[in-house]
Amino acid sequence: MEISQKRAADVNIRIMKHFIALILALSSPLAFASAQPEIGIDAGSAKARVSPLHHGLMTEEINHCYDGGLYAEVIQNRSFNDDEKKPVHWSAFPSEHSSKLTMDREGSLNASQPISLRIDAEKLGGVANDGYWGIPVYPKTKYKIRFFARAAQGGPKVLSAKLVGDDGTLYGKVRIAGVDSSWKKFECELTTKDIKPTAKAKFAIVSEKAGAFWLSTVSVLPPTWKDRPNGMRRDLMQMLADIHPRFLRFPGGNYLEGSTPETRFKWKETLGPIEERPGHQGPWGYRSSDGVGLLEFLLWCEDLEMEPVLAVYAGYSTEGGRINAGTDLEPFVQDALDEIEYVTGSIDTKWGAKRAANGHPGPFKLRYVEIGNEDWFDKSGSYRDRYVQFNDAIKKRFPALKLISSIGSEQKAELLVNQRIPDVLDEHYYRSTDEFIKNARQFESYKRGNQEVFVGEWAAHEDASVRPWDKGSRSLPPTPSMLAAIGDAVWMTAMERNADLITMQCYAPLLVNVNPGAGQWRPNLIGYDALRSYGSPSFYTISLFAKYIGDEVLNITTYPEGVHVSATRESKTGVIYVKVVNGTGLDKAACIKLTGVRGTFSGRQLRISGDNSATNSLDNPTSVIPQESSLADFSECLDLTLLRNSINVLILNPKKAEQ
Ligand code: AHR
Repeated sequence: MEISQKRAADVNIRIMKHFIALILALSSPLAFASAQPEIGIDAGSAKARVSPLHHGLMTEEINHCYDGGLYAEVIQNRSFNDDEKKPVHWSAFPSEHSSKLTMDREGSLNASQPISLRIDAEKLGGVANDGYWGIPVYPKTKYKIRFFARAAQGGPKVLSAKLVGDDGTLYGKVRIAGVDSSWKKFECELTTKDIKPTAKAKFAIVSEKAGAFWLSTVSVLPPTWKDRPNGMRRDLMQMLADIHPRFLRFPGGNYLEGSTPETRFKWKETLGPIEERPGHQGPWGYRSSDGVGLLEFLLWCEDLEMEPVLAVYAGYSTEGGRINAGTDLEPFVQDALDEIEYVTGSIDTKWGAKRAANGHPGPFKLRYVEIGNEDWFDKSGSYRDRYVQFNDAIKKRFPALKLISSIGSEQKAELLVNQRIPDVLDEHYYRSTDEFIKNARQFESYKRGNQEVFVGEWAAHEDASVRPWDKGSRSLPPTPSMLAAIGDAVWMTAMERNADLITMQCYAPLLVNVNPGAGQWRPNLIGYDALRSYGSPSFYTISLFAKYIGDEVLNITTYPEGVHVSATRESKTGVIYVKVVNGTGLDKAACIKLTGVRGTFSGRQLRISGDNSATNSLDNPTSVIPQESSLADFSECLDLTLLRNSINVLILNPKKAEQ
């Protein structure tokens, strides 16, 4: 067939297909519903205030969120505690014959570091660490190296630290002299050559002569966010900043509770120099270095201008360990009071002084404290008495604090705290997109009163038969697809319409190291490996919702079936933000009609759309990202086509207002 004949045939087939699609579309009920329906927004008066804390972040040590993630440390098992029997992630270097490695429990650095690594090295032999699925090596970059070392009598006095490619390429090296038979701290910088970034690398410490030496607490950090000495990874912090978060809920989650009371987040053991932190077994199957300790959480808040929402351990752990209310619980209540004093106390207080000694004399602003996490798992109903004990002690000492119950109205009424009225109820929602759509109106029927709602964990997953905690979810991509982003957007419109009630909300979990075996849960908002990172479609959706939020909620008077809407306004400027989600499979024409305001509006539209399965990944980080277009000026009705499967954020400026 001639090329021109083939083209003509193709065109005819395409016309036929369109004709059939048109007939089918016209005969479907959705098509009739989409004949220029109206989205009515009453801009005459605000329905409610949007809480300034509406959008926030929730994190915990899950999916290698801190160690092997946000925390910039690149050495895995830096204290040799991760496995009792062998120095996992460490190996003899440059070959297995170069040295013998022994876990030594004698003469360790201090009580927090019970094990040191003994290296019996050949000349130029030593030990290497393989990092968290590789060590990120950037060109012309300064790495801060810090470790403790000692040598046998007559043993090596000079060591070298190196970043070396898996293929043997030397990326950078520094010599360290002065090693002797007592423990000494060594701090130095290593600058890499002008190389192509790679994570196929190791960090090695070798000896200039044969002999035995010991290592403890080996730390290597590339440049951190704001150059904090024990700081966070820059690319991930930038992504978190892009979410425009107003608060940080920490330290968990299950990570707060631990699997047992013994392995809870013991904040007092997370303070001070890293060599004084023993680390602990987390509930998600791996040990935490506790490099991100209580002060690092607070500095992270300071760096991203977020308000801390501190959760205190309330006597219940995920595998059922429970501390009874009464005398048994008293030390835990005292621990929470000490913790609040550490965060907020002046330097004249015991724990305020400790904070100052740790490098931060100024107290942090704290208004919300959560008592426990998901205590509805404790079916004995003991939370009620435990809550009362915490409530009474905290309110007595810190009367201005608002206390959050970890059991919200989505749980059975008989579990809810009833002897005191918690200021805030924390509700968690991990639902499929369909379930979020079905329940999108649930908050409209909530009783308004003197209790705030904190949606402290929520996220949409694509398939109700594969829940985030199911093992089967681990074989799916660790971050969500467009279908889940639709569910997330629908849920956010629901929360925004009810932002008078829902003062705070945060997606969870936030971060996942995408290497096989690194994650325990999906979906997660942001994925990364040692070198690269990317945002899921939900990441971009949340960033837009949080950026364009305003401070007033406007009433939605009408909306077409299948479309989810919320509208807010910035009272100072009059700029109106409209979020419209069309989660159906059909494009829909709609008129956005503003009532109660006069004049002309100009504006722009940010749209995220794609097939249900469309998603982002390390290799394709920007397949689904917002597309921006400007809108024609309008005074009464803004005519729009809402693309099928699309999330739309409209920024509508009254003609004189600044954006
Ligand atoms: O976000 C993951 C887990 O989900 C949290 O640790 C826990 O609070 C919830 O069950």
